[in-house]
Amino acid sequence: MATTSLSISIPILAIWAIWILLCRKCLDNALQQLVVAASGSSHALQLKQAKALQETGWWPSTTHAQASSNYSSACHWDGITCNAGGSITTIDRFDQGLRGQLIKLKFSFFPNLVSLDLRWNSLTGCIPLEIGILKNLVYLRLSFNMLVGPIPSTLGHLTNLNTLGLSRNKINGFIPPGIGMLKNLTFLYLFSNMLVGPIPSTLGHLINLEYLDLHQNKINGFIPPEIGMLKNLTSLNLSLKMLVGPIPSTLGHLTNLEYLDLHQNKINGSIPPKIGMLKNLISLYLSSNMLVGPIPSTLGIKSMDPFPL
Ligand SMILES: *[C@@H]1O[C@H](CO)[C@@H](O)[C@H](O)[C@H]1NC(C)=O
Ligand SMILES: *[C@@H]1O[C@H](CO)[C@@H](O)[C@H](O)[C@H]1NC(C)=O
Ligand SMILES: *[C@@H]1O[C@H](CO)[C@@H](O)[C@H](O)[C@H]1NC(C)=O
Ligand SMILES: *[C@@H]1O[C@H](CO)[C@@H](O)[C@H](O)[C@H]1NC(C)=O
Ligand SMILES: *[C@@H]1O[C@H](CO)[C@@H](O)[C@H](O)[C@H]1NC(C)=O
Repeated sequence: MATTSLSISIPILAIWAIWILLCRKCLDNALQQLVVAASGSSHALQLKQAKALQETGWWPSTTHAQASSNYSSACHWDGITCNAGGSITTIDRFDQGLRGQLIKLKFSFFPNLVSLDLRWNSLTGCIPLEIGILKNLVYLRLSFNMLVGPIPSTLGHLTNLNTLGLSRNKINGFIPPGIGMLKNLTFLYLFSNMLVGPIPSTLGHLINLEYLDLHQNKINGFIPPEIGMLKNLTSLNLSLKMLVGPIPSTLGHLTNLEYLDLHQNKINGSIPPKIGMLKNLISLYLSSNMLVGPIPSTLGIKSMDPFPL
């Protein structure tokens, strides 16, 4: 008995130590950046922004040359847009083969950023706590990279967010309950990561949510009945292997739902008759669970996987 617990705890300790190291590094970098005060004049800010972008190495050398000969602003660079005052509002580097740590981008230099799209690159390191500074952010897209560490709780400060995409990374830890403060969130993509723990019931506060995809994580526990408060939800994917307990009957309130995927879990009990009230349902996946009892006769969906009852 004692030997078993020892052989389990050594790898767990090692993982924990590596995690602490990685995240300590993130925190230190973030603190260094915070020391840099926001600039006074808009011209000075433009200069600082151009320099901060150049230092990431994420723009090709031709743009680099351009930058050094005309350092006054980065507004004309690929994937950059600015507001009327010349301050950067969009950084779009989708699928540009970017490498290195995400923290190379000094978030504190971009107070007016509305959209950050760095999807489909090879970015590493953690998501810095400092991301919470970007109060104007509406679109945050970091999916399909190699990011590690936890989802920083400071993301809960980004109350203008419409889209949060962190899918297909190596993000671990819990889903911070503070995500429930993002009242404008419409799209939440967290699939294919290493997230653990339960689905926070605070997700039920995201009343504008239309798309929620958590599939392929190490999330366990029950489906919070509060999910039934997300009246605008059209797609819900909780195919997670480890969910237990019943299908909450509150899911029957999700009258806009078109796709419901709960397959491959350990969900038990019977299918709530209220599921039959989901008139917009196109696809329902419930196979590989521990469900019993009849299929609600009210179900009028177009496609369904065959599941053993
Ligand atoms: C430098 O860039 C700014 C802003 O894009 C532009 O207005 C200015 O004409 C450029 N100057 C030179 C010398 O190219
Ligand atoms: C949320 O969205 C609405 C409408 O799109 C917008 O007016 C508001 O400023 C946004 N932000 C917050 C924090 O509610
Ligand atoms: C839901 O969607 C409708 C129509 O798209 C929209 O008017 C409404 O603001 C959204 N949010 C809530 C909470 O109903
Ligand atoms: C949900 O995720 C699974 C993978 O775990 C995937 O096979 C399935 O297509 C997804 N369902 C929907 C409706 O997107
Ligand atoms: C379903 O599973 C949960 C936890 O795994 C258990 O407590 C409960 O009794 C089960 N319910 C049914 C109806 O089998």
